[in-house]
Amino acid sequence: MLGLCATIVKLSAPAMPTNANAEAAWNYHEVTKHSYTSVRTNPHFLDFRNQPLPFKIYPALEPSRMPTEVRQTGVAALSAIAGSLPAQTNAAPDLEAVAQLLYLSAGITRQRKYSGGEIYFRAAACTGALYEVELYLVCRELANLEAGVYHFAPAEFGLRRLRAGDYRNVLVEATGGEPAIAHAPLTVVCTCTYWRNAWKYQARTYRHFGWDNGTLLANLLAVATALGLPAKVICGFVDATVNRLLDVDSQREVAFSLVAIGHDSGLSAQTAPPAPTTPRTLAEISPLGFETVPLSRDEVDYPLMREMHAASSLDSPEEVAAWRRRAPLGNAGMPGFPSPAGPVVRLQPLSDGEMPRDPIEQVILRRGSSRQFARTPISLAQLSTVLDRATRGVPADFLDPMGSQLNHLYLIVHAVEGLDSGAYVFHRDRGVLECLKHGNFRDQAGYLGLEQQLPADAAVDIFSLADLRPIFDRFGNRGYRAVQLEGGILGGKIYLAAYAQRLGATGLTFYDDEVTRFFSPHAEGKSAIFLVAVGHSAKRQSQ
Ligand SMILES: Cc1cc2nc3c(=O)[nH]c(=O)nc-3n(C[C@H](O)[C@H](O)[C@H](O)COP(=O)(O)O)c2cc1C
Repeated sequence: MLGLCATIVKLSAPAMPTNANAEAAWNYHEVTKHSYTSVRTNPHFLDFRNQPLPFKIYPALEPSRMPTEVRQTGVAALSAIAGSLPAQTNAAPDLEAVAQLLYLSAGITRQRKYSGGEIYFRAAACTGALYEVELYLVCRELANLEAGVYHFAPAEFGLRRLRAGDYRNVLVEATGGEPAIAHAPLTVVCTCTYWRNAWKYQARTYRHFGWDNGTLLANLLAVATALGLPAKVICGFVDATVNRLLDVDSQREVAFSLVAIGHDSGLSAQTAPPAPTTPRTLAEISPLGFETVPLSRDEVDYPLMREMHAASSLDSPEEVAAWRRRAPLGNAGMPGFPSPAGPVVRLQPLSDGEMPRDPIEQVILRRGSSRQFARTPISLAQLSTVLDRATRGVPADFLDPMGSQLNHLYLIVHAVEGLDSGAYVFHRDRGVLECLKHGNFRDQAGYLGLEQQLPADAAVDIFSLADLRPIFDRFGNRGYRAVQLEGGILGGKIYLAAYAQRLGATGLTFYDDEVTRFFSPHAEGKSAIFLVAVGHSAKRQSQ
């Protein structure tokens, strides 16, 4: 069905819907569901002659190289993913720290040749290894880095300066005065490029924006913590302002999330005296007009995604401030998540003293999605440690107070010592798994994960499900970006927590409504958002 949503590229601006009316998000979500039938009736095929470039290239701009020596923080990955620095911790990154943040979240960590060319694998998992997320920096002067707006070029491991000067006040305005942004010496802006991922995944790509941006952010947040830098994910901003600051063609590439990094209590970008060259208003931001290399010979447009994006856009600083001020969801604000009614099993996570202490740098470089799982069990302590460490909260403007969550974790356990096989729901506040049904569900899990072998062979499949109704009531269409992003961050943390314990993991896609049905009645009314399988990786048999 997704194929029906495509037209050959002719990019016209969609009509302007409002964020508050969540009809667009419901429609997008419904239309992009995978089902047994949709997969079989979709005529889409991969046109390798038209495969998009994996990098954004500005041919006229020379990148300045960054230091390639990775500084070892020595901070255990399981600590780094679980914690965050208090927001007011005074700290600013230098160029070396910037290089480390970028390398370990979006840098090229492995290369593999194949018959059609070469795949440049990156630090975080990404659907189809298509890497549609680009990173930009907006910073004041940092040690060894001048103030400016920069694009991160992973191929050269360099920075291309798009604008010189301190433009942070533009982000302060765009975020309606978000304090973390106002005090951050550096903000990383993550954009997503439709065609780079839609080449394979068509209109479902807008979900992948949240997933792939989320796994990247799990790395970025963990590395920031290891470097002693507070970091906060910001989902609420005036889209047009941020896109204009970066001068992206917003019909093709759009800002998706911001991450405020570091804190300078003495200096708020809002109150800092403007440098003579610093623009104060959006109107003063000139277009740059830098040429970029086309990604493909032709692009196919999926208007549904641009409609979804327009409907979830925020149009003024006042709208952003009001969006952020609305009552927090908290955990109590999540209806439909009752106290355990069935048998429960208490988790047995490893303490700081017992856990493996492999540093975050090592674990990120070791990570790579499992392409096959051995059907050997993991221990309850390992699973408990994954769940415990991955769910201690994400500093984000849509998860206020810290520790709130939009997604809930549901598990299909196949092979965990000390835990009967079956379906479970995780009660994070109690540290228990509630059993929903016992049984061997390997075949069903394989089916739910789009009829792949990986979820059938894993030791456990961990699904994020969310009740979109209160999320859309609270956040409007923008809630769809937030819930996918949180699903991706949780998934990325699960990846890291697994690899920190020398287990394997892989993200997976799924048959939406069948997942809900499998976990019902408990999951009734919820939507499947993310899936990650965990187990012991097996070397792939040669075929
Ligand atoms: C959200 C998400 C969904 C994924 N879905 C699948 C999948 O359905 N099947 C699969 O074999 N791999 C899947 N992957 C794994 C990607 O193919 C893998 O991350 C990518 O090839 C990059 O390789 P790496 O993770 O080893 O760095 C998924 C990854 C993510 C993040």
